[in-house]
Amino acid sequence: MSDTKRLTTTAGAPIADNQNSLTAGAHGPLLMQDYQLLEKLAHQNRERIPERVVHAKGWGAFGTLRITGDISAYTRAKALQPGTETPMLARFSTVAGEMGAADHERDVRGFALKFYTEEGNWDLVGNNTPVFFIRDPYKFPDFIHTQKRHPRSNLRSPTAMWDFWSLSPESLHQVSILMSDRGLPRTPVNMNGYGSHTYSLWNDAGERFWVKFHFKTQQGHSHYTNREGEEIVGKTREGYQEALFGMIEAGEFPRWTLQVQIMPEADAEKTPYNPFDLTKVWPHADYPPIEIGVMELNRNPDNYFAEIEQAAFSPSNIVPGIGHSPDKMLQARVFSYADAHRYRLGTHYEALPVNQPKCPVHHYHKDGSMNFFGQKTGAVDAYYEPNSMGGATEDPSVMEPPLKISGDAARYNHRDGNDDYSQPRALHDLMTDDQRARLYMNTAESMQGVPQHIIDRALANYDKVSPAYGDGIRAALRELAGARAAAE
Ligand code: NDP
Ligand code: HEM
Repeated sequence: MSDTKRLTTTAGAPIADNQNSLTAGAHGPLLMQDYQLLEKLAHQNRERIPERVVHAKGWGAFGTLRITGDISAYTRAKALQPGTETPMLARFSTVAGEMGAADHERDVRGFALKFYTEEGNWDLVGNNTPVFFIRDPYKFPDFIHTQKRHPRSNLRSPTAMWDFWSLSPESLHQVSILMSDRGLPRTPVNMNGYGSHTYSLWNDAGERFWVKFHFKTQQGHSHYTNREGEEIVGKTREGYQEALFGMIEAGEFPRWTLQVQIMPEADAEKTPYNPFDLTKVWPHADYPPIEIGVMELNRNPDNYFAEIEQAAFSPSNIVPGIGHSPDKMLQARVFSYADAHRYRLGTHYEALPVNQPKCPVHHYHKDGSMNFFGQKTGAVDAYYEPNSMGGATEDPSVMEPPLKISGDAARYNHRDGNDDYSQPRALHDLMTDDQRARLYMNTAESMQGVPQHIIDRALANYDKVSPAYGDGIRAALRELAGARAAAE
Protein backbone atom coordinates (compact mmCIF):
# COMPACT_ATOMS: atom_id res chain seq x y z
CA MET A 1 0.00 0.00 0.00
CA SER A 2 1.30 3.50 -0.81
CA ASP A 3 2.46 5.56 2.16
CA THR A 4 0.06 8.37 1.31
CA LYS A 5 -2.98 6.10 1.61
CA ARG A 6 -1.92 4.15 4.68
CA LEU A 7 -3.86 4.99 7.85
CA THR A 8 -1.51 5.76 10.71
CA THR A 9 -1.58 6.78 14.35
CA THR A 10 -0.82 10.42 15.13
CA ALA A 11 2.68 9.16 15.89
CA GLY A 12 2.90 7.84 12.32
CA ALA A 13 2.73 4.09 12.94
CA PRO A 14 0.59 2.07 10.49
CA ILE A 15 -2.80 0.87 11.78
CA ALA A 16 -3.77 -2.72 11.07
CA ASP A 17 -7.48 -2.63 12.00
CA ASN A 18 -9.71 0.46 12.21
CA GLN A 19 -12.99 -1.53 12.49
CA ASN A 20 -12.75 -3.82 15.53
CA SER A 21 -11.63 -2.92 19.03
CA LEU A 22 -9.24 -5.15 20.96
CA THR A 23 -11.21 -7.48 23.25
CA ALA A 24 -10.70 -10.59 25.36
CA GLY A 25 -12.94 -12.94 23.41
CA ALA A 26 -15.47 -11.96 20.73
CA HIS A 27 -17.95 -10.58 23.29
CA GLY A 28 -15.49 -8.44 25.25
CA PRO A 29 -14.50 -6.92 27.62
CA LEU A 30 -12.11 -4.36 26.14
CA LEU A 31 -8.38 -4.30 26.83
CA MET A 32 -6.75 -1.13 28.18
CA GLN A 33 -3.86 -1.64 25.79
CA ASP A 34 -6.10 -0.74 22.80
CA TYR A 35 -4.49 2.68 22.78
CA GLN A 36 -5.94 3.58 19.34
CA LEU A 37 -9.47 3.22 20.72
CA LEU A 38 -8.57 5.33 23.76
CA GLU A 39 -6.97 7.93 21.51
CA LYS A 40 -10.00 8.12 19.19
CA LEU A 41 -12.32 8.68 22.16
CA ALA A 42 -9.96 11.18 23.80
CA HIS A 43 -9.59 13.19 20.58
CA GLN A 44 -13.33 13.29 20.11
CA ASN A 45 -13.71 14.73 23.61
CA ARG A 46 -11.45 17.58 22.58
CA GLU A 47 -13.04 18.45 19.23
CA ARG A 48 -14.85 21.51 20.57
CA ILE A 49 -13.15 24.73 21.56
CA PRO A 50 -14.96 27.59 23.30
CA GLU A 51 -17.21 29.36 20.82
CA ARG A 52 -16.76 33.10 20.39
CA VAL A 53 -18.45 34.89 23.30
CA VAL A 54 -20.23 37.03 20.68
CA HIS A 55 -20.52 36.50 16.90
CA ALA A 56 -20.39 32.71 17.41
CA LYS A 57 -22.31 31.77 14.23
CA GLY A 58 -20.41 32.68 11.10
CA TRP A 59 -19.69 32.07 7.42
CA GLY A 60 -16.43 32.86 5.67
CA ALA A 61 -14.42 32.80 2.47
CA PHE A 62 -11.12 33.95 1.00
CA GLY A 63 -10.56 36.52 -1.72
CA THR A 64 -8.64 39.62 -2.73
CA LEU A 65 -8.68 43.36 -2.23
CA ARG A 66 -7.67 45.30 -5.36
CA ILE A 67 -6.89 49.00 -5.07
CA THR A 68 -8.00 51.04 -8.07
CA GLY A 69 -8.03 54.58 -6.62
CA ASP A 70 -5.13 56.68 -5.36
CA ILE A 71 -4.99 57.71 -1.70
CA SER A 72 -1.20 57.62 -1.51
CA ALA A 73 -1.25 61.26 -0.36
CA TYR A 74 -2.96 60.09 2.84
CA THR A 75 -1.33 56.75 3.61
CA ARG A 76 1.87 54.83 3.15
CA ALA A 77 0.03 51.51 3.75
CA LYS A 78 1.31 49.14 1.06
CA ALA A 79 -2.06 47.39 0.76
CA LEU A 80 -3.74 50.72 -0.09
CA GLN A 81 -1.40 51.81 -2.91
CA PRO A 82 -2.83 52.02 -6.45
CA GLY A 83 -2.75 48.69 -8.29
CA THR A 84 -2.04 46.57 -5.20
CA GLU A 85 -3.82 43.24 -4.84
CA THR A 86 -3.87 41.72 -1.35
CA PRO A 87 -5.11 38.24 -0.38
CA MET A 88 -7.77 38.36 2.33
CA LEU A 89 -10.26 36.44 4.44
CA ALA A 90 -13.81 37.52 5.32
CA ARG A 91 -15.97 36.13 8.11
CA PHE A 92 -19.59 37.26 8.41
CA SER A 93 -21.60 36.49 11.54
CA THR A 94 -24.64 37.21 13.65
CA VAL A 95 -23.92 38.74 17.04
CA ALA A 96 -26.16 37.18 19.66
CA GLY A 97 -26.87 33.61 18.58
CA GLU A 98 -24.75 30.66 19.59
CA MET A 99 -22.85 28.51 17.09
CA GLY A 100 -25.96 26.52 16.20
CA ALA A 101 -28.23 29.56 15.82
CA ALA A 102 -30.36 29.94 12.70
CA ASP A 103 -28.84 32.23 10.07
CA HIS A 104 -31.98 34.15 9.12
CA GLU A 105 -32.57 35.92 12.43
CA ARG A 106 -32.90 39.67 12.84
CA ASP A 107 -29.55 40.83 14.19
CA VAL A 108 -26.59 43.01 13.34
CA ARG A 109 -24.15 41.12 11.08
CA GLY A 110 -20.42 40.99 11.71
CA PHE A 111 -18.20 41.86 8.73
CA ALA A 112 -14.68 40.84 9.76
CA LEU A 113 -11.83 41.15 7.28
CA LYS A 114 -8.22 40.04 7.45
CA PHE A 115 -5.87 41.43 4.81
CA TYR A 116 -2.59 39.51 4.53
CA THR A 117 -0.47 42.52 3.55
CA GLU A 118 3.27 42.65 2.79
CA GLU A 119 3.80 44.48 6.08
CA GLY A 120 1.70 42.24 8.32
CA ASN A 121 -1.94 41.40 8.81
CA TRP A 122 -4.42 44.26 8.80
CA ASP A 123 -7.74 43.30 10.36
CA LEU A 124 -10.83 45.44 9.89
CA VAL A 125 -13.38 43.93 12.26
CA GLY A 126 -16.59 45.73 11.38
CA ASN A 127 -20.31 45.20 11.10
CA ASN A 128 -22.96 45.68 8.42
CA THR A 129 -23.90 48.93 10.19
CA PRO A 130 -21.90 52.17 10.34
CA VAL A 131 -22.65 52.75 14.06
CA PHE A 132 -23.00 50.77 17.30
CA PHE A 133 -25.38 50.50 20.30
CA ILE A 134 -23.07 52.14 22.84
CA ARG A 135 -20.21 54.61 22.85
CA ASP A 136 -18.39 53.64 26.06
CA PRO A 137 -16.80 50.18 26.33
CA TYR A 138 -17.65 50.09 30.06
CA LYS A 139 -21.15 49.18 28.87
CA PHE A 140 -20.19 46.42 26.40
CA PRO A 141 -20.45 43.40 28.75
CA ASP A 142 -23.75 44.78 30.14
CA PHE A 143 -25.13 45.30 26.67
CA ILE A 144 -24.12 41.80 25.54
CA HIS A 145 -25.74 40.28 28.65
CA THR A 146 -29.06 41.74 27.45
CA GLN A 147 -28.64 40.00 24.09
CA LYS A 148 -27.79 36.60 25.55
CA ARG A 149 -29.90 34.20 27.65
CA HIS A 150 -31.60 35.05 30.96
CA PRO A 151 -29.74 33.26 33.77
CA ARG A 152 -32.90 31.59 35.15
CA SER A 153 -35.15 30.95 32.16
CA ASN A 154 -32.22 30.37 29.77
CA LEU A 155 -34.30 32.24 27.18
CA ARG A 156 -33.52 35.42 25.25
CA SER A 157 -35.19 38.34 27.03
CA PRO A 158 -36.86 41.20 25.11
CA THR A 159 -37.43 42.83 28.51
CA ALA A 160 -33.69 42.97 29.20
CA MET A 161 -33.00 44.30 25.69
CA TRP A 162 -35.59 47.06 25.90
CA ASP A 163 -34.77 47.90 29.51
CA PHE A 164 -31.15 48.53 28.51
CA TRP A 165 -31.94 50.28 25.20
CA SER A 166 -34.57 52.55 26.73
CA LEU A 167 -32.08 53.56 29.44
CA SER A 168 -29.38 54.16 26.79
CA PRO A 169 -30.64 56.67 24.21
CA GLU A 170 -27.31 56.45 22.39
CA SER A 171 -28.55 53.06 21.12
CA LEU A 172 -31.42 54.65 19.11
CA HIS A 173 -29.39 54.97 15.92
CA GLN A 174 -28.20 51.37 15.83
CA VAL A 175 -31.56 49.95 17.01
CA SER A 176 -33.24 51.90 14.19
CA ILE A 177 -30.96 50.18 11.63
CA LEU A 178 -31.47 46.80 13.32
CA MET A 179 -35.28 47.14 13.12
CA SER A 180 -35.14 48.49 9.55
CA ASP A 181 -34.99 46.30 6.45
CA ARG A 182 -31.22 46.10 6.87
CA GLY A 183 -31.63 44.08 10.10
CA LEU A 184 -32.33 40.90 8.12
CA PRO A 185 -30.25 40.71 4.91
CA ARG A 186 -31.18 37.93 2.49
CA THR A 187 -27.59 36.60 2.30
CA PRO A 188 -24.20 37.81 3.49
CA VAL A 189 -23.49 39.20 0.03
CA ASN A 190 -26.55 41.47 0.04
CA MET A 191 -25.24 43.82 2.70
CA ASN A 192 -22.64 46.52 3.11
CA GLY A 193 -19.73 46.28 5.53
CA TYR A 194 -18.49 49.19 7.60
CA GLY A 195 -15.27 49.60 9.58
CA SER A 196 -17.65 51.68 11.73
CA HIS A 197 -14.97 53.27 13.95
CA THR A 198 -12.89 56.21 12.95
CA TYR A 199 -9.37 54.97 12.21
CA SER A 200 -6.43 56.99 10.97
CA LEU A 201 -4.24 57.01 7.90
CA TRP A 202 -0.73 58.44 7.95
CA ASN A 203 1.68 59.18 5.16
CA ASP A 204 5.44 59.25 4.70
CA ALA A 205 5.50 62.92 5.72
CA GLY A 206 4.08 61.94 9.11
CA GLU A 207 0.71 63.61 8.50
CA ARG A 208 -2.37 61.98 10.02
CA PHE A 209 -5.89 61.90 8.57
CA TRP A 210 -9.01 60.41 10.14
CA VAL A 211 -10.74 57.78 8.04
CA LYS A 212 -13.90 55.66 7.85
CA PHE A 213 -13.97 52.49 5.69
CA HIS A 214 -17.12 51.38 3.84
CA PHE A 215 -17.59 48.24 1.73
CA LYS A 216 -20.61 48.69 -0.54
CA THR A 217 -22.25 45.53 -1.87
CA GLN A 218 -22.22 45.13 -5.65
CA GLN A 219 -24.92 42.44 -5.37
CA GLY A 220 -27.47 45.03 -4.24
CA HIS A 221 -29.24 45.34 -0.90
CA SER A 222 -31.87 42.69 -0.45
CA HIS A 223 -33.72 41.82 2.71
CA TYR A 224 -36.33 39.50 4.19
CA THR A 225 -39.25 40.49 6.36
CA ASN A 226 -39.65 38.81 9.75
CA ARG A 227 -42.31 36.48 8.29
CA GLU A 228 -40.06 35.49 5.38
CA GLY A 229 -37.21 34.93 7.81
CA GLU A 230 -39.37 32.64 9.97
CA GLU A 231 -40.43 30.63 6.93
CA ILE A 232 -36.82 30.12 5.85
CA VAL A 233 -35.68 29.15 9.34
CA GLY A 234 -38.51 26.56 9.32
CA LYS A 235 -36.83 24.99 6.29
CA THR A 236 -33.14 25.61 6.91
CA ARG A 237 -31.12 27.06 9.75
CA GLU A 238 -28.06 27.37 7.49
CA GLY A 239 -29.34 29.69 4.76
CA TYR A 240 -26.29 32.00 4.83
CA GLN A 241 -23.79 29.16 4.69
CA GLU A 242 -25.70 27.60 1.78
CA ALA A 243 -25.82 30.92 -0.09
CA LEU A 244 -22.20 31.99 0.38
CA PHE A 245 -20.64 28.55 -0.05
CA GLY A 246 -22.93 27.74 -2.99
CA MET A 247 -22.24 31.00 -4.82
CA ILE A 248 -18.48 30.65 -4.60
CA GLU A 249 -18.56 26.94 -5.54
CA ALA A 250 -20.58 27.95 -8.63
CA GLY A 251 -17.97 30.55 -9.60
CA GLU A 252 -20.23 33.52 -8.84
CA PHE A 253 -17.84 35.68 -6.88
CA PRO A 254 -19.42 38.40 -4.70
CA ARG A 255 -17.85 41.85 -4.73
CA TRP A 256 -17.88 44.98 -2.65
CA THR A 257 -16.67 48.47 -3.61
CA LEU A 258 -14.30 49.93 -1.03
CA GLN A 259 -14.91 53.57 -0.18
CA VAL A 260 -13.21 55.80 2.36
CA GLN A 261 -14.28 59.03 3.97
CA ILE A 262 -11.29 61.15 4.90
CA MET A 263 -11.19 63.96 7.47
CA PRO A 264 -8.18 66.26 7.94
CA GLU A 265 -6.76 65.82 11.45
CA ALA A 266 -7.64 69.34 12.60
CA ASP A 267 -11.31 69.02 11.54
CA ALA A 268 -11.95 66.75 14.53
CA GLU A 269 -11.99 69.89 16.69
CA LYS A 270 -14.59 71.56 14.49
CA THR A 271 -17.33 69.04 13.69
CA PRO A 272 -20.63 69.63 15.52
CA TYR A 273 -20.52 65.96 16.59
CA ASN A 274 -17.65 64.00 18.11
CA PRO A 275 -16.09 62.26 15.09
CA PHE A 276 -14.82 59.48 17.39
CA ASP A 277 -18.28 58.66 18.72
CA LEU A 278 -19.25 55.22 17.44
CA THR A 279 -22.97 56.01 17.61
CA LYS A 280 -22.52 58.63 14.87
CA VAL A 281 -21.75 58.59 11.15
CA TRP A 282 -19.92 61.30 9.28
CA PRO A 283 -22.55 62.78 6.93
CA HIS A 284 -21.63 62.08 3.31
CA ALA A 285 -22.25 65.71 2.39
CA ASP A 286 -19.46 66.76 4.81
CA TYR A 287 -17.01 63.97 3.97
CA PRO A 288 -17.88 62.47 0.57
CA PRO A 289 -17.03 58.79 0.08
CA ILE A 290 -14.04 58.23 -2.22
CA GLU A 291 -14.01 54.97 -4.18
CA ILE A 292 -10.65 53.23 -3.90
CA GLY A 293 -11.01 49.54 -4.64
CA VAL A 294 -12.86 46.27 -4.95
CA MET A 295 -13.02 43.29 -2.62
CA GLU A 296 -13.91 39.95 -4.18
CA LEU A 297 -14.52 36.62 -2.44
CA ASN A 298 -13.51 33.74 -4.70
CA ARG A 299 -12.38 30.73 -2.66
CA ASN A 300 -14.19 28.60 -0.13
CA PRO A 301 -12.21 27.29 2.82
CA ASP A 302 -11.24 23.62 2.53
CA ASN A 303 -11.85 23.05 6.22
CA TYR A 304 -14.40 25.17 8.06
CA PHE A 305 -12.98 24.53 11.52
CA ALA A 306 -9.33 25.15 10.66
CA GLU A 307 -9.89 28.22 8.53
CA ILE A 308 -13.07 29.94 9.78
CA GLU A 309 -13.62 28.76 13.35
CA GLN A 310 -9.92 29.21 14.13
CA ALA A 311 -9.73 32.58 12.39
CA ALA A 312 -8.74 35.27 14.86
CA PHE A 313 -9.59 38.86 13.87
CA SER A 314 -8.48 41.77 16.01
CA PRO A 315 -8.65 45.56 15.69
CA SER A 316 -5.17 45.54 17.27
CA ASN A 317 -3.82 44.30 13.93
CA ILE A 318 -2.86 47.42 12.04
CA VAL A 319 0.01 48.02 9.63
CA PRO A 320 2.29 51.00 8.89
CA GLY A 321 0.15 53.76 7.33
CA ILE A 322 -3.00 52.81 9.26
CA GLY A 323 -3.60 53.78 12.89
CA HIS A 324 -6.25 53.83 15.58
CA SER A 325 -8.11 56.88 16.88
CA PRO A 326 -9.22 58.18 20.28
CA ASP A 327 -12.57 56.31 19.92
CA LYS A 328 -12.99 54.75 23.40
CA MET A 329 -14.73 51.69 21.98
CA LEU A 330 -11.92 51.04 19.51
CA GLN A 331 -9.32 51.41 22.24
CA ALA A 332 -11.06 48.75 24.36
CA ARG A 333 -11.33 46.43 21.38
CA VAL A 334 -7.57 46.72 20.84
CA PHE A 335 -7.22 44.80 24.12
CA SER A 336 -10.28 42.56 24.07
CA TYR A 337 -9.88 40.52 20.87
CA ALA A 338 -6.30 39.29 21.27
CA ASP A 339 -7.19 38.40 24.86
CA ALA A 340 -10.21 36.43 23.61
CA HIS A 341 -8.02 34.59 21.09
CA ARG A 342 -5.45 33.57 23.68
CA TYR A 343 -8.29 32.03 25.70
CA ARG A 344 -10.32 30.59 22.80
CA LEU A 345 -7.49 29.35 20.57
CA GLY A 346 -4.33 29.41 22.68
CA THR A 347 -1.22 31.49 23.18
CA HIS A 348 0.18 30.97 19.70
CA TYR A 349 -3.07 31.54 17.77
CA GLU A 350 -1.25 33.76 15.29
CA ALA A 351 0.91 30.81 14.17
CA LEU A 352 -2.16 28.87 13.00
CA PRO A 353 -2.10 28.75 9.19
CA VAL A 354 -5.21 30.92 8.71
CA ASN A 355 -3.87 33.64 11.00
CA GLN A 356 -0.26 33.41 9.93
CA PRO A 357 0.99 36.57 8.18
CA LYS A 358 2.13 36.03 4.59
CA CYS A 359 5.31 38.04 5.23
CA PRO A 360 8.38 37.25 7.35
CA VAL A 361 7.65 37.22 11.09
CA HIS A 362 10.37 37.84 13.69
CA HIS A 363 9.56 38.19 17.39
CA TYR A 364 11.06 37.31 20.77
CA HIS A 365 8.02 35.61 22.37
CA LYS A 366 9.36 32.38 23.79
CA ASP A 367 8.02 28.88 24.46
CA GLY A 368 4.41 28.54 25.62
CA SER A 369 1.88 25.82 24.93
CA MET A 370 1.85 24.53 21.32
CA ASN A 371 4.94 26.40 20.20
CA PHE A 372 5.72 24.44 17.02
CA PHE A 373 7.74 27.13 15.30
CA GLY A 374 10.77 27.48 17.58
CA GLN A 375 12.36 30.91 17.74
CA LYS A 376 11.24 33.57 15.25
CA THR A 377 14.07 36.02 15.78
CA GLY A 378 16.06 35.56 12.61
CA ALA A 379 19.12 33.99 14.31
CA VAL A 380 19.54 30.80 16.33
CA ASP A 381 21.29 32.32 19.36
CA ALA A 382 19.17 35.45 19.49
CA TYR A 383 16.43 34.71 22.01
CA TYR A 384 16.59 38.12 23.76
CA GLU A 385 16.99 41.66 22.49
CA PRO A 386 19.26 43.64 22.22
CA ASN A 387 21.73 40.97 21.15
CA SER A 388 24.93 40.77 19.14
CA MET A 389 23.86 37.52 17.46
CA GLY A 390 22.24 39.02 14.39
CA GLY A 391 18.66 38.83 15.68
CA ALA A 392 15.81 40.94 14.35
CA THR A 393 15.79 44.61 15.37
CA GLU A 394 13.33 47.48 15.35
CA ASP A 395 12.75 49.62 12.27
CA PRO A 396 12.27 53.31 13.16
CA SER A 397 11.15 54.06 9.59
CA VAL A 398 7.68 52.65 10.40
CA MET A 399 7.16 54.86 13.48
CA GLU A 400 3.59 56.17 13.61
CA PRO A 401 3.40 59.98 13.93
CA PRO A 402 2.57 61.18 17.45
CA LEU A 403 -1.12 61.15 18.36
CA LYS A 404 -2.12 64.54 19.73
CA ILE A 405 -4.09 64.02 22.95
CA SER A 406 -4.85 66.19 25.98
CA GLY A 407 -7.21 66.33 28.95
CA ASP A 408 -7.46 65.49 32.64
CA ALA A 409 -7.89 61.82 33.58
CA ALA A 410 -11.47 61.42 34.83
CA ARG A 411 -14.61 59.37 34.20
CA TYR A 412 -16.45 61.73 31.83
CA ASN A 413 -20.20 61.21 31.47
CA HIS A 414 -20.50 60.00 27.88
CA ARG A 415 -24.15 61.09 27.73
CA ASP A 416 -23.45 64.74 28.67
CA GLY A 417 -24.27 67.12 25.84
CA ASN A 418 -24.62 64.37 23.26
CA ASP A 419 -27.24 64.59 20.54
CA ASP A 420 -28.61 61.06 20.24
CA TYR A 421 -31.55 62.07 18.08
CA SER A 422 -30.52 64.01 14.94
CA GLN A 423 -28.82 61.15 13.10
CA PRO A 424 -31.58 58.57 13.76
CA ARG A 425 -33.96 61.31 12.57
CA ALA A 426 -31.97 61.69 9.31
CA LEU A 427 -32.22 57.91 8.84
CA HIS A 428 -35.95 57.88 9.60
CA ASP A 429 -36.44 60.75 7.14
CA LEU A 430 -34.63 59.06 4.28
CA MET A 431 -36.80 55.92 4.44
CA THR A 432 -39.81 55.46 2.18
CA ASP A 433 -43.29 55.09 3.75
CA ASP A 434 -43.15 51.31 3.23
CA GLN A 435 -39.73 51.05 4.87
CA ARG A 436 -40.96 53.13 7.81
CA ALA A 437 -44.05 50.93 8.22
CA ARG A 438 -41.83 47.83 8.43
CA LEU A 439 -39.49 49.65 10.86
CA TYR A 440 -42.41 50.45 13.18
CA MET A 441 -43.82 46.91 13.00
CA ASN A 442 -40.44 45.20 13.52
CA THR A 443 -39.84 47.42 16.55
CA ALA A 444 -43.32 46.72 17.97
CA GLU A 445 -42.92 42.97 17.42
CA SER A 446 -39.64 42.97 19.31
CA MET A 447 -41.40 44.68 22.25
CA GLN A 448 -43.95 41.90 22.74
CA GLY A 449 -44.05 40.78 26.39
CA VAL A 450 -42.02 43.77 27.62
CA PRO A 451 -43.50 45.57 30.68
CA GLN A 452 -45.45 48.72 29.73
CA HIS A 453 -43.28 51.12 31.77
CA ILE A 454 -40.22 50.04 29.77
CA ILE A 455 -42.09 50.40 26.46
CA ASP A 456 -43.24 53.87 27.52
CA ARG A 457 -39.68 54.90 28.33
CA ALA A 458 -38.53 53.66 24.91
CA LEU A 459 -41.40 55.47 23.15
CA ALA A 460 -40.46 58.73 24.88
CA ASN A 461 -36.99 58.38 23.32
CA TYR A 462 -38.49 57.72 19.88
CA ASP A 463 -40.70 60.81 20.26
CA LYS A 464 -37.51 62.85 20.63
CA VAL A 465 -36.23 61.45 17.32
CA SER A 466 -39.52 62.32 15.69
CA PRO A 467 -43.12 62.28 16.97
CA ALA A 468 -43.98 60.35 13.78
CA TYR A 469 -41.50 57.62 14.80
CA GLY A 470 -43.01 57.22 18.31
CA ASP A 471 -46.56 57.34 16.97
CA GLY A 472 -45.73 54.84 14.23
CA ILE A 473 -44.54 52.31 16.82
CA ARG A 474 -47.60 53.04 19.02
CA ALA A 475 -49.91 52.31 16.07
CA ALA A 476 -48.04 49.07 15.32
CA LEU A 477 -48.30 48.03 19.00
CA ARG A 478 -52.08 48.66 18.88
CA GLU A 479 -52.34 46.61 15.70
CA LEU A 480 -50.53 43.68 17.31
CA ALA A 481 -52.68 43.95 20.48
CA GLY A 482 -55.82 43.95 18.30
CA ALA A 483 -54.66 40.89 16.38
CA ARG A 484 -53.87 39.11 19.67
CA ALA A 485 -57.29 39.97 21.13
CA ALA A 486 -59.01 38.74 17.96
CA ALA A 487 -57.13 35.45 18.13
CA GLU A 488 -58.10 34.77 21.81
P1 NDP B 1 -26.88 60.28 2.77
O1 NDP B 1 -28.24 60.45 2.18
O2 NDP B 1 -25.71 60.82 2.03
O3 NDP B 1 -26.58 58.74 3.06
C1 NDP B 1 -27.59 57.90 3.46
C2 NDP B 1 -27.04 56.52 3.64
O4 NDP B 1 -28.06 55.77 4.25
C3 NDP B 1 -26.68 55.81 2.37
O5 NDP B 1 -25.31 55.46 2.46
C4 NDP B 1 -27.53 54.52 2.37
O6 NDP B 1 -26.75 53.41 2.14
C5 NDP B 1 -27.94 54.46 3.82
N1 NDP B 1 -29.24 53.82 4.09
C6 NDP B 1 -30.36 53.82 3.40
N2 NDP B 1 -31.31 53.09 4.03
C7 NDP B 1 -30.76 52.62 5.15
C8 NDP B 1 -31.20 51.80 6.22
N3 NDP B 1 -32.44 51.31 6.29
N4 NDP B 1 -30.36 51.52 7.20
C9 NDP B 1 -29.11 52.00 7.20
N5 NDP B 1 -28.62 52.78 6.21
C10 NDP B 1 -29.44 53.09 5.20
O7 NDP B 1 -27.01 60.93 4.22
P2 NDP B 1 -26.01 61.14 5.42
O8 NDP B 1 -24.62 60.75 5.14
O9 NDP B 1 -26.27 62.50 5.91
O10 NDP B 1 -26.62 60.11 6.48
C11 NDP B 1 -28.00 60.15 6.82
C12 NDP B 1 -28.28 58.93 7.62
O11 NDP B 1 -28.01 57.78 6.80
C13 NDP B 1 -27.37 58.78 8.82
O12 NDP B 1 -27.86 59.43 9.95
C14 NDP B 1 -27.29 57.31 8.98
O13 NDP B 1 -28.38 56.86 9.77
C15 NDP B 1 -27.47 56.74 7.58
N6 NDP B 1 -26.19 56.27 7.02
C16 NDP B 1 -25.16 57.14 6.83
C17 NDP B 1 -23.93 56.68 6.46
C18 NDP B 1 -22.76 57.58 6.39
O14 NDP B 1 -21.62 57.07 6.43
N7 NDP B 1 -22.94 58.88 6.27
C19 NDP B 1 -23.71 55.25 6.18
C20 NDP B 1 -24.90 54.45 6.30
C21 NDP B 1 -26.06 54.95 6.76
P3 NDP B 1 -26.42 52.85 0.65
O15 NDP B 1 -25.44 53.78 0.09
O16 NDP B 1 -25.88 51.54 0.87
O17 NDP B 1 -27.74 52.80 -0.07
C1 HEM C 1 -16.23 39.41 18.05
C2 HEM C 1 -15.45 42.11 21.98
C3 HEM C 1 -17.50 45.92 19.81
C4 HEM C 1 -17.52 43.43 15.65
C5 HEM C 1 -15.89 39.80 19.31
C6 HEM C 1 -15.28 38.96 20.30
C7 HEM C 1 -15.05 39.72 21.40
C8 HEM C 1 -15.53 41.04 21.12
C9 HEM C 1 -14.39 39.28 22.69
C10 HEM C 1 -14.96 37.48 20.12
C11 HEM C 1 -13.59 37.33 19.50
C12 HEM C 1 -13.21 35.90 19.27
O1 HEM C 1 -13.39 35.07 20.16
O2 HEM C 1 -12.68 35.61 18.16
C13 HEM C 1 -15.92 43.38 21.72
C14 HEM C 1 -15.82 44.51 22.64
C15 HEM C 1 -16.43 45.57 22.03
C16 HEM C 1 -16.88 45.12 20.73
C17 HEM C 1 -15.17 44.46 24.01
C18 HEM C 1 -16.63 46.99 22.49
C19 HEM C 1 -15.99 47.54 23.49
C20 HEM C 1 -17.63 45.60 18.47
C21 HEM C 1 -17.93 46.54 17.41
C22 HEM C 1 -17.92 45.84 16.25
C23 HEM C 1 -17.63 44.46 16.57
C24 HEM C 1 -18.17 48.02 17.61
C25 HEM C 1 -18.14 46.31 14.84
C26 HEM C 1 -17.98 47.55 14.46
C27 HEM C 1 -17.18 42.14 15.96
C28 HEM C 1 -17.11 41.08 14.97
C29 HEM C 1 -16.74 39.93 15.66
C30 HEM C 1 -16.60 40.29 17.05
C31 HEM C 1 -17.38 41.21 13.48
C32 HEM C 1 -16.55 38.55 15.06
C33 HEM C 1 -15.16 38.44 14.47
C34 HEM C 1 -15.00 37.10 13.78
O3 HEM C 1 -15.67 36.91 12.73
O4 HEM C 1 -14.25 36.27 14.28
N1 HEM C 1 -16.06 41.07 19.84
N2 HEM C 1 -16.56 43.79 20.59
N3 HEM C 1 -17.46 44.35 17.91
N4 HEM C 1 -16.87 41.64 17.19
FE1 HEM C 1 -16.72 42.69 18.87
